[in-house]
Amino acid sequence: MSMTFRKSWQWTRQEASLYARYLTGSSLHVCAGTANLGDVKLDLYQPFVDVKADAMKLPFRDRSITTILCDPPWLHGVELKILKELRRVAKKRIIFITMNDIRFPRSSPWKLIALWHISRNGGNQHNIKACYVFEREANQSLEDYQ
Ligand SMILES: C[S@@+](CC[C@H](N)C(=O)[O-])C[C@H]1O[C@@H](n2cnc3c(N)ncnc32)[C@H](O)[C@@H]1O
Repeated sequence: MSMTFRKSWQWTRQEASLYARYLTGSSLHVCAGTANLGDVKLDLYQPFVDVKADAMKLPFRDRSITTILCDPPWLHGVELKILKELRRVAKKRIIFITMNDIRFPRSSPWKLIALWHISRNGGNQHNIKACYVFEREANQSLEDYQ
């Protein structure tokens, strides 16, 4: 029997094409790792990215990028901090991928427009990721979610 191996956080081609579907306008890929989507790729540790910076302190102005794609590190507690920063910088859309079971804040002006479950190896509990696609509702001010 032949087997193939891939680092578990690396995307399959099918996954990448699902996420690519939601890219619109200027795009920033936060926690990009070695993936290839997005006009600008940002990561704190990977050497071959456009911007080396912390996802919790992005060097971009409020609402300056149309779409932000993010596959954050799989650590509990970090994701919501990163998402807060993405909400500051994203003008229209956030594509957020996670292994963890996140409860997003209710007061958010961000509307969930799609939720995908991505399973591997038959989709047992430890091998399932979720992709949330949020869109900013019109006429919301920055103060509404801080
Ligand atoms: C789950 S992996 C993403 C992997 C990516 N989808 C790929 O195909 O290579 C998370 C990435 O976040 C990066 N990272 C971890 N902490 C970070 C931080 N505070 N700010 C920015 N990037 C961070 C890691 O270096 C890693 O590349």
